[in-house]
Amino acid sequence: MRPLPKGMRLGVASAAFQVEGAWDAADKSPNIWDNFCRSIGVIKDNSNAKDACKSYEYYKRDVSMVKFLGVDFYRFSISWSRVLPTGFPNKISKEGSQYYSNLIDELIANGIEPVVTMFHWDLPQRLQDLGGWANPLIADWFEDYARVLFDLYGDRVKTWITINEPKQIGLFGYGGKRFAPAINAHGIGEYLAAKNIIMAHARAWRLYDREYRAKQNGTCSITIATDYRQGMTDSPDDVRAGLDAMDFEVGLYSHPIFSEKGGFPESVVRLVAEKSKQQGYPQSRLPEFTKEEIEFVKGTSDFYGFNHYSTKFYSRQSYKPGMFPVPSYDDDLGAAVSLMDYKPAAVPHCTAIPEGIRKSLKWVKDTCNDPPIMITENGFGTFGGLQDDDRVAYLNSYMTEILDAVEEDKCNVVAYTVWSLMDNFEWDSGLRVKFGIFETDYDDEKKTRIPRASAFWYKHLAETRSFNC
Ligand code: NOJ
Repeated sequence: MRPLPKGMRLGVASAAFQVEGAWDAADKSPNIWDNFCRSIGVIKDNSNAKDACKSYEYYKRDVSMVKFLGVDFYRFSISWSRVLPTGFPNKISKEGSQYYSNLIDELIANGIEPVVTMFHWDLPQRLQDLGGWANPLIADWFEDYARVLFDLYGDRVKTWITINEPKQIGLFGYGGKRFAPAINAHGIGEYLAAKNIIMAHARAWRLYDREYRAKQNGTCSITIATDYRQGMTDSPDDVRAGLDAMDFEVGLYSHPIFSEKGGFPESVVRLVAEKSKQQGYPQSRLPEFTKEEIEFVKGTSDFYGFNHYSTKFYSRQSYKPGMFPVPSYDDDLGAAVSLMDYKPAAVPHCTAIPEGIRKSLKWVKDTCNDPPIMITENGFGTFGGLQDDDRVAYLNSYMTEILDAVEEDKCNVVAYTVWSLMDNFEWDSGLRVKFGIFETDYDDEKKTRIPRASAFWYKHLAETRSFNC
């Protein structure tokens, strides 16, 4: 039996759009995902999240499941358009805001800490109509929204996460069309969104720091997708390709906030500027931070919110159209980077490469000033089944590597979170891909849950604070 590091907190996670359902309850207005799901062919199994897990109705059941596991916290997110139907604080929904208040109270009454993500992708459609994350004014709108949340819930919520996974918002939603709002402004949209997301985060953090921290005594940060990108071989070129990929896919968001120097990573600034010039753009496709903005953003964190699922391998090769899998960062770069020898799992994100999590943790320690790391998501997707031995094996092997990172590399991991408490709406993959340690029965009116083998594995871990590795 291997003990967990002393003081390491355990939790489970979900997100509003993926579990709540009740998409038009009370005065909630539509968000971009409500609308996206209506388009034909964008959700792989043609499902939608109108009901999802019906957590809006049965939130007490979710809390009892967390209680059953015996973990310390529940990470959930707030739906912006449920609390602020116009997107702005001119009107706070009574019923919408009460729902989260009830959920928070129920958690606390059961001895579970609420960990709240303010934004997990479900932007009010009204704000999207005004440009969404492509409009720099969103930093104002987000700060206003954050103030409402701190006022409503900050007496009881002590861990805040501003924004979940900026890369996925920008790259899939603005650079591409896989995610809402499907802007597809390739090579431009993802960078515009990245800067505006980082500014919005910094505004919310500074607001908390300036006006709320002293009286509410909590912490606030951002969650960044920190999957590992590794060179295919030890050749200097491949190693460089892996490091560049880390800069593009993780550093783009972490460097401005956590590094000593601030701003976007030097390699990204240089590579995008060079390529933009070759392509005839009058200026780089990557927006600049002013000196004031660099200073404003730097240091806006109390911990590093770390999501991790898998690792991909890179080699610096010319990308040929039609080649599989496609390069995953800026496809417009001359020295295209491609993924090779990568055997995709049946379910996206679910190639188990446990040593990658240790490498990612070390990368964060080394490039982000050795922050306290809250692992805000780690999990494994399947197509179902209660005896989920593959998920148990995945979680066991990843936990082993996390412990190695803590004990041998001295990474400061303060918390670990399994994604997800229950099967839920897996974005463009719909209801078919299942990440839950509880099964959700979607055919049943009440969306009944059943614990999987992995739920018992996690319960045992929480009880004994140690595990068999
Ligand atoms: C990260 C996202 O935050 C979450 O919403 C998603 O369901 C999981 N990855 C699994 O893909």
